[in-house]
Amino acid sequence: MSPLIPPEWESIEAPSIVVEPPGPRSREVLARIERRAYPGLSAGLTPFALAHKRAWTVTDVDGNVYLDLASASASVPLGAGRPELLGPVTEALARFGNEDSHALVSELTARFGERLLEVAPASLTRYDIALNGTEAIEIAIKLMRRSTGRPVIIGFHGSYHGESTLTAALGAEAAEISRGLRGLVGGFVHVPYPHPYRSPLRDPRPGGSGDATVDYLRDHVLFHALDPSEVAGVMIEPVLGSGGCVAPPDSFWPALTQLCAEHGWLLCADEVKSGMGRSGHLFAVERWGVEPDLMCLGKALGGGAMPIGAVLGSERAIGGFDDVPTGSTWAWLPAACAAAMTTLDLFEREPVLENVGELERLASARLGELRDRFERIGEVRATGCFMAIEFVRDRETKERDPELQDAVAAEALRRGVIADSSTTSLNIQPSLVMPGEALERAFEIVAEAIEAALAAEGS
Ligand SMILES: Cc1ncc(COP(=O)(O)O)c(C=O)c1O
Repeated sequence: MSPLIPPEWESIEAPSIVVEPPGPRSREVLARIERRAYPGLSAGLTPFALAHKRAWTVTDVDGNVYLDLASASASVPLGAGRPELLGPVTEALARFGNEDSHALVSELTARFGERLLEVAPASLTRYDIALNGTEAIEIAIKLMRRSTGRPVIIGFHGSYHGESTLTAALGAEAAEISRGLRGLVGGFVHVPYPHPYRSPLRDPRPGGSGDATVDYLRDHVLFHALDPSEVAGVMIEPVLGSGGCVAPPDSFWPALTQLCAEHGWLLCADEVKSGMGRSGHLFAVERWGVEPDLMCLGKALGGGAMPIGAVLGSERAIGGFDDVPTGSTWAWLPAACAAAMTTLDLFEREPVLENVGELERLASARLGELRDRFERIGEVRATGCFMAIEFVRDRETKERDPELQDAVAAEALRRGVIADSSTTSLNIQPSLVMPGEALERAFEIVAEAIEAALAAEGS
């Protein structure tokens, strides 16, 4: 097995903060964007301007170097600027430039599609091409409805599937994401995600499905509100990503797959974030031996070098018709296929998943210590390189504390650690090849940041 990281990354040292961010150069760039861009863009920006990225570090234009625990929204799995990806990508660009893979394909398309199906769960035998995760979900929604002839898709509170009209309405991570859309886009019914800490549904009922969420679906949703024959299927993140890095209890999967089988529902795994190693398996469904009918991929599929998405499906789900137009011009650009092929090679050659397992063990220990130390942490979670800290005002009431969470993220940034202050938790999603020492350092800084945020609250 080849070493995990290129030798030149071994000497990387971070973080190093030389000027309080945002420094003067960052402020200047951000002000220009604020003057001319859609205000909603400026509102969400991390407060510095990027100079360059390398491995698990980000350098800003004022010379600060940060440890990156966001990984470009979990789309850079193997470190930024991975040298092995550059050759194949530039070679494909030089050879093909752009081509619309809905019209003209090369052998590379065939090879990459076959390779993807080889590594995917055995239930998935066909693929469709997409530009990114959002488009993959859009396509999957159409295909599920077409193959079953049924309109309704069941989604989950807490899930994120994208920001386009359709994907925002299927998602339910935060009410503001679908504000203005709920009343316009029909056909999605939501139930609570099987969230061991937050679900309002407690224990499974005696004589029921064995799982509280599936009992709720059976006993309430299907009894009071929805005829099973209206349902095309279920769209679920096998590990809730942006919604807080939550893994369902083991009881959930057998009960859900049984329910789907009973009613002919398609089970679609949104592995846009959880796929390509982040859960500790190449695909998160492998963790529970689940064989979905469809799977959506994006983000890390292109190795952090190129945008690419895919929908994989069984014969039943996507093999029996050709009359649903899907996708867009840049889907499976040859250079993106080259990046994705090389990414799969790297996963095969290098001990990436082993490293994810080690980072998960390290994170579980450090996060547990943080929870013991700080009363205002309600829960900590680690599933592979999905890690999260959930802040509360009070452990008993579990009242969420987004202000403290934002303050911790800001204090961490000032100290040189970039984490994602998401809707419900501080999400930590390191590069899958980050060395343990770098993650240890990041956790020390997060602990200092929590101290500082709590001290500022009291002052
Ligand atoms: C689970 C999940 N699905 C779909 C998407 C949409 O992917 P993208 O924004 O890369 O198009 C995301 C993005 O965060 C995601 O986390």
